Amino acid sequence: MGMISSSIARKVAMALSGLFLVFFLGQHFTINIMAVIAPDLFNETSHFMGSNPLVQYLLQPVLIFGVVFHFVMGFILELKNRKAREVSYAKYKGSANASWASRNMIISGLVILAFIGLHFYDFWIPELIHKYVESHPEDPTRYYAETVHKFENPIRVGLYVLAFVLLAVHLWHGFASSFQSVGFNNKYATALTKFAKMYAILIPAGFIFIAIYLHLNQIPH
Ligand code: HEM
Repeated sequence: MGMISSSIARKVAMALSGLFLVFFLGQHFTINIMAVIAPDLFNETSHFMGSNPLVQYLLQPVLIFGVVFHFVMGFILELKNRKAREVSYAKYKGSANASWASRNMIISGLVILAFIGLHFYDFWIPELIHKYVESHPEDPTRYYAETVHKFENPIRVGLYVLAFVLLAVHLWHGFASSFQSVGFNNKYATALTKFAKMYAILIPAGFIFIAIYLHLNQIPH
């Protein structure tokens, strides 16, 4: 009984942390699309998020914990699944009925993890140094220019776009299946699965649009 409940608990924890990150992606997309449609609003919102104590000292640590928890749990589940598969290989016919996306969540997950590493190097760490190490006088209008200039380098844009494609593959299976993992299986399940599949395409496609738009619309330094 312990074994099963702990594996179900792990799956539910994985699904809930995944749903939290899906919500974060929607919020993050909403803020960053402003850099395309309303740069002043982007500056105002980034300054609010960057200087609000609740965001900085509660929500951001929770987010970083959620990211780390999801990846660590992902590795644990992958290792346990591989072990289980070895034991029951005779019965398990490889890819017979599982999509590439579902069989390779660890690959798309690793690419997203590598992206987050680059992304933290590009945005989050410079932001922390700006605020807490160098402690510059706050300039609420700096965010737009800083973000646009990050997309000047075509190699960075290429890596971001590649990561967003794998993000779509990861979400394509992960978002919809997380509802099943938390036992959400009622008359709304079909509509929710359709919404999850659309979200898995539209949000990464939106991030690709932002990256290419900012690359093609550079502003002088
Ligand atoms: C074109 C697309 C994107 C742009 C322009 C963008 C921009 C930014 C910026 C400006 C920050 C620094 C915010 C701050 O701390 O002041 C940031 C942080 C962050 N980004 Fe992105 N981002 C993009 C896509 C993504 C994606 C796809 C993910 C997840 C897979 C992601 C995950 C994060 C995380 C976890 C943080 C650190 C927490 C935070 O400060 O909000 N970003 N991003």
